[in-house]
Amino acid sequence: MTALKVPPGFVWGASTSAYQIEGAAAEDGRGPSIWDIHSRIPGRTNNGDTGDVACDHYHRWPEDLALLKRLGVDAYRFSVAWPRVLPRGRGAANDKGLDFYDRVIDAVLDAGIQPWLCLYHWDLPQRLHELGGWTNRDVAGWFADYATLVARRFGDRVRHFATFNEPNVATLFGYAMTWCAPAMADRDAYFRAAHHLNLAHGAAVDVLRDHVKGARIGAIYNMQPVHPESDTAENRHAAKVLDAHWNLVYADPQILGTYPAVVAGDFEPYVQAGDMARICRPVDWFGMNHYGPIWTRADADSQLGFAWGDNPNPVPHPDIGWPIYPDAFTAELKRCAARYRLPVYVTENGMGRGADEEKVVGGRVEDPYRIAYLKLYTQAMEQAIADGVDVRGYFIWSLLDNYEWGSGYGNRFGIVHVDFASQTRTPKDSFSWYADLIQRTRKG
Ligand code: NOJ
Repeated sequence: MTALKVPPGFVWGASTSAYQIEGAAAEDGRGPSIWDIHSRIPGRTNNGDTGDVACDHYHRWPEDLALLKRLGVDAYRFSVAWPRVLPRGRGAANDKGLDFYDRVIDAVLDAGIQPWLCLYHWDLPQRLHELGGWTNRDVAGWFADYATLVARRFGDRVRHFATFNEPNVATLFGYAMTWCAPAMADRDAYFRAAHHLNLAHGAAVDVLRDHVKGARIGAIYNMQPVHPESDTAENRHAAKVLDAHWNLVYADPQILGTYPAVVAGDFEPYVQAGDMARICRPVDWFGMNHYGPIWTRADADSQLGFAWGDNPNPVPHPDIGWPIYPDAFTAELKRCAARYRLPVYVTENGMGRGADEEKVVGGRVEDPYRIAYLKLYTQAMEQAIADGVDVRGYFIWSLLDNYEWGSGYGNRFGIVHVDFASQTRTPKDSFSWYADLIQRTRKG
């Protein structure tokens, strides 16, 4: 295996998120989040799985962070669970919750790794949802207060902050559709949620900037090219609209100060005077999560005019068993760099595989398909760098197999296998591959 050509100071990392790994959902004063409620509704998640226990990281963090150290990464991206530190979303803080993140951050730093803290990875406190949650304009202030608490408490040790992870998925699937909490399937709620989330981003950037000296602030966007399932005028339009909702309605207002033209009229009723300036605050980096392209078709009966489409030409990659499009990754990196003109960090990339395919045999998990995928995708990133894109880091999703939202424990993205019955961790072959890639690339 050869090393990659990356710029000096390139950051290698691994990503996780609170609800997907922590468990301890009702421990030490944590309040419920919308995901605790959503995952309990029959039919919402595979097998009725919840994040009640997940990887039990709340108790097993020393073992997990030891694995992180062994992996040899420079940075660890994790999220703080808002309801763990503010059980009712606002008001009294929960010391035990704050203590937990103190322990994690200190241990990460002791391991010589930089903590990258994300404020919101989809776990809105249920109490706030009952007050309207993201559909209530006051949420921007609630979020700013939460950001203030986090900045004051951890800002002496954490420099890298992300406001949001994949706001598009949280709002499209949670408010326009039903695949994520709080499953509202309501057009008006969707536009409110999206716009208020943008206001919350701007408010949090200001708070972080004020409270943390030398903070490096960004947000994390899920960027995937969108294609029409078949080449009709309606489907081409649907692809343009989905591209806006999926890829642009957060990054554009947050970084460029405008909603994309094709949907700007739809947002207009929700935008008040001064909002765009409140949303568009200077940031330091662009976080890009990327997995692969999506296909769509027009659907007049849907909330937003499009439905999920099928890949019209799914040619499986021989080593992987399904189609993959690393060139689309290179192209997406180029598009983001040109459009937003910020240093880019790939904050997520990786491969999920069915739980039945990933077995521990003789103390080992062989996952050649994941290695094949990662090889091609990291090379696609290298290509973007060679073509002039300012990519400064790559974080794998994910350190551990974890709670994959609606797919529950049925889809494993980790480079460490987790046996959810015994909580045994077993590094997969891809763990060694990634450790090796990092080492060789560092040596040059
Ligand atoms: C996107 C999300 O940020 C993360 O929570 C999820 O597990 C992965 N991608 C894989 O779907």
